[in-house]
Amino acid sequence: MAQNATPRPRSIAICGGAFGDEGKGRVIDMLAHELTQLGPVVVYRDNGGANAGHTVEFSSGQRVALHQLPSAVFIPGTTVVLGKEMVIHPADLQEEISQAKQAAEGTLPATILIDEMATLSLDTHRAFESVLKTWESGGKGSTGRGIAPAYADVLLRHPLRMRDLVPFNQAKVEQHYNLYNAHVMGLGQNLAQCQVPTLVGTPREVGEKAVFITRLKENMSELNSHVQDIRAWLTDQWRNNETSFLFEKAQAIGLDLRWGVYPDVTASDTTVNGIYSATEGLIAPTDIKSRVAVIKATYMSSVGTRKLPTDMEETLANRIREDAHEYGATTKRPRGIAYLDFPALKYFIRVGNINQLMLTHMDVSYPEVPIRICVRYEVEGKEVQYRPDQEFLNTVTPIYQELKSWETQEVQSAKTQQDLPESAQNFLKFVAKNLGVKISLITTGPQRQQFLKLMNI
Ligand code: IMP
Repeated sequence: MAQNATPRPRSIAICGGAFGDEGKGRVIDMLAHELTQLGPVVVYRDNGGANAGHTVEFSSGQRVALHQLPSAVFIPGTTVVLGKEMVIHPADLQEEISQAKQAAEGTLPATILIDEMATLSLDTHRAFESVLKTWESGGKGSTGRGIAPAYADVLLRHPLRMRDLVPFNQAKVEQHYNLYNAHVMGLGQNLAQCQVPTLVGTPREVGEKAVFITRLKENMSELNSHVQDIRAWLTDQWRNNETSFLFEKAQAIGLDLRWGVYPDVTASDTTVNGIYSATEGLIAPTDIKSRVAVIKATYMSSVGTRKLPTDMEETLANRIREDAHEYGATTKRPRGIAYLDFPALKYFIRVGNINQLMLTHMDVSYPEVPIRICVRYEVEGKEVQYRPDQEFLNTVTPIYQELKSWETQEVQSAKTQQDLPESAQNFLKFVAKNLGVKISLITTGPQRQQFLKLMNI
């Protein structure tokens, strides 16, 4: 992989460091606001699709849930890019843009660019995925957004890409429908009648081929103008050091196809390494100066069917779930809650090429409950390392260490790093030392301005 000796200034990648929903959207929003003070900002998303979820709250109290659009779409001076390795659902994206426009009172302040090479994830994929779930399939925990089948189309060398819809390639889309019709029929169901999730929440039928095609054409009437061959533009921006780059990774390294808890993983590359392939070799991971993993400070959450070695007993899990609103932004499912798992996190940091941590939810702590951290795994009394394999992880015993906790209020009211209670400061040092990377930021409460940048940790 071509790598520069010196990373490019003003370039930051934000990854989920655990199993998703770590609060990346909020961090990106904050960084994008800061960076636009310095000049133009490109926010580049390279993976996943409508399986991600992040809610933006306006000062009016209005809330908009974003799934495919980066939240920087509300920030003037930014260009948001939906990159080549994404799997895009046009109907959801059209609806999302229309909701975002409404919230922004008519016009979006950011420019939206869609790489013409991005793969499509359609209702056909959602239907096939839902039918597969009735079989003995590893995809039972999926969000139902047709992500894995869309990526599978690429492996099978018959994907539909954005450029196939601009101009609209009727024959190719028909061929796609016919193939999925055969897949679904082969599994004993009728594609046209399959109910699939939509952005607004009410499921709809995939419909007969003609209906499916008409709907897709309608969706594209809104999206056509955003679809481009972005390579030359992206190269110019990357070579211009006046432009800041923020890479918004979706999902998290613990959900990565190769590094996550297989089989309940997503189908994309959730690490910074995926940016290299999405940008066709333009941006190597180590060209990016700050490669951040965002994790929740005192616990982890996970939604799906995976079973983590550090899953928490339900009483404490339930308390955290309610206090920290741990329900899926995309599927509304209650999230599983687990203790921090250092063997897994260390592995994710290594394979994910991470050089910095940001910790969210630092205020989620109960003074009477020490913070438990799994510091190693054992099998039959011998230490073993994390491996990306559910069957193996089922056999490990987590060995815990407990650290003194703190009062929520003590962290929420801290205005500087020095204001943090001693137990919180010790905790941060312990995390940084054991995971081997510095912690540059923590969030200290639910409000946008409740965060602290850290020095020397
Ligand atoms: P898929 O991405 O829909 O195929 O789902 C695969 C696994 O990743 C499932 O366990 C999902 O719950 C999980 N997953 C996918 N996207 C997210 C996310 O944005 N946050 C948390 N979990 C996710």
